[in-house]
Amino acid sequence: MATGAGDRYWDKQSLPSALKHELLQRYLPIFAGKTGSKSNGVVYLDGYAGRGRYDDGQPGSAELILKIAEDQGSRGISYRLFFHETDSKSYAALKPVVDEYRARGVPAEASPDEAISGLSKVLAAAQGLPLFLFLDPCGLGIPFSDLTKVLSGPRSGRWPPTEVLLNFSLEAVRRIAGHVHSSTPNEKTMQRLDAALGGDWWRDIIRERRVTDDAVREIVQEFMNRLGEATQMQVCAIPVTRAPLHKPVYHLVLGTRSSIGVWYFGDCAARAEQKWWETREAQEAARDEAAGIDALFEISGLSHPDIEKVEAEALPVIAENIARLAEQYGRFKVGDYPGEVFGRYLGVVRETVVRAAIKRLHADGRTPSDGKGSPITGLVVTRPQR
Ligand SMILES: C[S@@+](CC[C@H](N)C(=O)[O-])C[C@H]1O[C@@H](n2cnc3c(N)ncnc32)[C@H](O)[C@@H]1O
Repeated sequence: MATGAGDRYWDKQSLPSALKHELLQRYLPIFAGKTGSKSNGVVYLDGYAGRGRYDDGQPGSAELILKIAEDQGSRGISYRLFFHETDSKSYAALKPVVDEYRARGVPAEASPDEAISGLSKVLAAAQGLPLFLFLDPCGLGIPFSDLTKVLSGPRSGRWPPTEVLLNFSLEAVRRIAGHVHSSTPNEKTMQRLDAALGGDWWRDIIRERRVTDDAVREIVQEFMNRLGEATQMQVCAIPVTRAPLHKPVYHLVLGTRSSIGVWYFGDCAARAEQKWWETREAQEAARDEAAGIDALFEISGLSHPDIEKVEAEALPVIAENIARLAEQYGRFKVGDYPGEVFGRYLGVVRETVVRAAIKRLHADGRTPSDGKGSPITGLVVTRPQR
């Protein structure tokens, strides 16, 4: 179902990949650190691994994870890594990269396996162990029924944990959705999207609203709801754009059964976005846009808001969210309610805003909790005595 990534893709890291990699390399060590320290290791699959390294020497997703495994391995977190890649040219490039780390003692194997049919080997290796699946196809990926099957059954419990990070292609949705109103629709192509989304429900949305940004947003949201329902996972996502201010090309969708997973994913996303924005390439792309050089995008503003400015705006909103939860529960731990605590700022601001918000409520006499202590996820907020 997924297509290949051509030679040009591997010249050098593109801007969307820079954000994707930044997020992956921040989040995965947290998952592995939190789960691997309580077990005999962590199993990781990069199901659409690519070449491992770009032609200019920069790491792709595979080498990034190999480096992380080597680093965390020296600190007692052991990984077992699997990399699947079906394209022969890409596999020929990937294998020596993986073997390089394997020779240095990182338990890793590359195989020309197809992402889904090769999964049984990975699931067998992950018996009783935490499992992280990174599924990053170009275009449409795993059919919904295969995806939910993997995340259910033996992998449906809270322990050993299973998480999935999925590239959900909005470009593929936009392209295929165009067939709904076409005078020469290709039913086979539309059926591929049915399979990826778990049904033809998306066609009604497009029939009614055509291929608009709102319709595509609704399809992503409905896909996430269905995935969450089918797997009993909490599902959250961040948009990834080709350049700052562009329409998203895909969403990185996380499925987890841990509230702390959602919390750290949101925090990592905010930090990754900020770091990405600060790169020279992102700033140049934004300058080009501002100068009208690239017209293939929707401008929503001409500069990226400074994260500190956004956090200052988020603080009173998050403080009210916290006050409301304290009122409702009497006493609660912030890490148990990431969606409710951050609200619309989940994935946009860092977790430090939560501490600041609790301190603000404390200073205003609205909670006896002082916002001190670590980690932030463990901070308990209590309703004031009446
Ligand atoms: C977007 S690229 C991967 C990029 C890589 N994850 C990274 O970030 O560096 C997708 C890769 O999946 C490979 N691929 C396509 N279909 C596949 C399948 N069914 N199973 C495994 N790999 C596949 C393609 O050849 C391509 O190299």
